[in-house]
This record gives sequence, structure tokens and C-alpha cells, in this order.
Amino acid sequence: MSTPHNPPQTLTIIRPDDWHLHVRDGAALHTVVPHTAAQFARALIMPNLKPPVTSTAQALSYRERIRAAAVAAGYSAFEPLMTLYLTDHLRPDEILRAKEAGLVGVKLYPAGATTNSDAGVTDMRKTYATLEVMQRVGMPLLVHGEVTSPDIDLFDREAVFIDTQLIPLRRDFPALKVVFEHITTREAAQYVQSAQGAIAASITAHHLLYNRNAIFTGGMRPHYYCLPVLKREIHRQALVDAATGGSPRFFLGTDSAPHATHLKEHASGCAGCYTAHAAMELYASAFEAANALDKLEAFASFHGPDFYALPRNTDQITLRRESWTPPESYAFSETSLKPLAGGEVLHWRMALPL
Ligand code: NCD
Ligand code: ZN
Ligand code: ZN
Repeated sequence: MSTPHNPPQTLTIIRPDDWHLHVRDGAALHTVVPHTAAQFARALIMPNLKPPVTSTAQALSYRERIRAAAVAAGYSAFEPLMTLYLTDHLRPDEILRAKEAGLVGVKLYPAGATTNSDAGVTDMRKTYATLEVMQRVGMPLLVHGEVTSPDIDLFDREAVFIDTQLIPLRRDFPALKVVFEHITTREAAQYVQSAQGAIAASITAHHLLYNRNAIFTGGMRPHYYCLPVLKREIHRQALVDAATGGSPRFFLGTDSAPHATHLKEHASGCAGCYTAHAAMELYASAFEAANALDKLEAFASFHGPDFYALPRNTDQITLRRESWTPPESYAFSETSLKPLAGGEVLHWRMALPL
């Protein structure tokens, strides 16, 4: 570990993967895919398109569009890992096709929980035949873990989900591999740390860096609004402890979720923070603030592939201590996209390949 008097100037680690990413579709791919492909070898692509990705055939053609955008930007080695969107009607035989085709997960969005979740699950019981097959063939269930009931306080929706949904579900499917996505609370970190069986969690950079004050500092700041929403400082600290604690159950998933500027800065602004432009820089800042830069490699590059039973990457990236300012905005299809920390000084920067 470094002392404040002699901080490291570079950090070289095995190339990381992003285990939770939204890239949207169409022209938007050309803005966002290169940002991710510049840093990560692989990314787990979320299926919440409009309409959602509910068949293996759709996932494979979506993968080709993502690959084409990466190749067009010079990143031919980038590998999108694909997922299916679980609905009340996703059939068990589709899981067999997905497994055969190399899809790596099936995503549970409780109906109404988040962006493009209208087609999500209304009652877990309706998915049990499909979950049975997933458990049998080793297809992971990736969970947006929030209840949607309007009587549950928005800030409590993740913690309530653990008790009312996740624990009963895992009791019924004890061998199902589960990833609790983008965890935001101490309760979720504690549950994942101590639960029995195959469970892990992804953690975003923004939930490591910010607490809920960020949404309200100096006025309403919609670019900090995502779901699950940022929580109190004690929760941020619990997430930092989980991410930097060395447990193989916690790994990197940016949940970078681009929305056009005018839809974020809106009377009912969309949920999602865009971080792909500076993902590793933001994680490095969070780990350095916790004096745990030495833990970043395992979190970013080892724990994810180990959980998904995929090979670790073998090439490396280097981050340098360098002050730079990401742009305030990127062109995004016909509109624009405001990245998190745009216009702010960051202190780590990905080195370009030689
Ligand atoms: C995501 C999106 O925009 O697709 N938004 C978000 O706030 N995280 C959806 C999600 O991951 O829940
Ligand atoms: Zn989500
Ligand atoms: Zn997401």
C-alpha cells in the first residue's frame, strides 16, 4: 500500500471487463461502444432495449451490431457478452438455445422497476419453469434488486427486495447462480458477503464515489439520478468496504446507462448515469480514496470472470496519474450525452496503447 508521500504514478493491471453495461442500439452505439472497448476486453450487455431482447436470435444480431461499432472504431478484439430479458413468458426452451449459443445470463427486471422494464416480471412464480432450467444448465440470473410497490419508500426498495424476493427465490432455487446487480446498500453488501451458495454482486463507480447528497447539491442534478438511487454515506462506505475487501463475490459493473441530455434534464428525467467514457479512471479514484489501489485489479479483472467461469484476460492496461478533464458532452445519435464528471478534473487516466 502506498504512503501519501510516495503515491504510485502508474498502475498496470490485467485488462478489466465490465459486468453490467447499457449500450443502447443504432447510431448511439458509435458513441458509447468505443468508450467501453478502449478500456475493457469484454462487457456484459444489458437487454433492456425497446423492445427488449427476449430471444437468442435477437441477442446474437444485437451482438453483431455492437461488434460492428467496435470494429469501426478500431477495437476488433472487444467482446460483447450477451443476456436475455426475463419476462413472464420467456420459455424454458429459449434458455437451452441461449446456453448453446453462448449467452451468459438472463436479466430479471421487476416490472416497472427501472428504465425499459415495462415488459419485466410481474410475479416470480410465472418464471419458475424457466428458472428451473437455468438452474439446471448453469445459466446465471442477473437481478435488478428493487421492489416496485409504491408504498415502499424509494430508498428502501433494495433492502426490502432482499427479504421479500431474493431470499425466498434462492430458497426455491439453491443452486441457481445469482448476480445482485449494481448494489447500493449496506444490507445488500452484507447479504452477498454472508449468503450461502453461488451469489455475487456488481458495484458501480458512481455508487462508490457519491452519496445521495450529489443529487441535490446546489440544485437538482439529474445526471446523478440513477436506479437504484444513490443512498446515504453509510451505504457508500459499506460498498467501498465490499469492493476493496478482496472478497471474490464483488466485481466491477459500471451500469453505464446513456440517456440523451434533454431526457435527463426533463420534468421526469430518465434514470441512468453515463460513466463509460472514464470508467477505470473513476474506479481508480474511488479505490485510491480508500487507500486500496492494490485491490483494484482483482475487483476489476479477476472476480467477474471467475464467477462467470470464463477465462481471465491476459493483456494489461496502464493507468497514469495525470490530471485531465473529460468533455462536458458527447454527440449521441442526433442529440447529446452528458457524462458523469464531465468538465471536472480527474487524477487518473488510461494510457493509450503504444
Ligand atoms: C438503467 C438504464 O438506463 O437502462 N438505468 C439506471 O438508472 N441504472 C437501467 C438499470 O440498470 O436499472
Ligand atoms: Zn438495473
Ligand atoms: Zn443497468
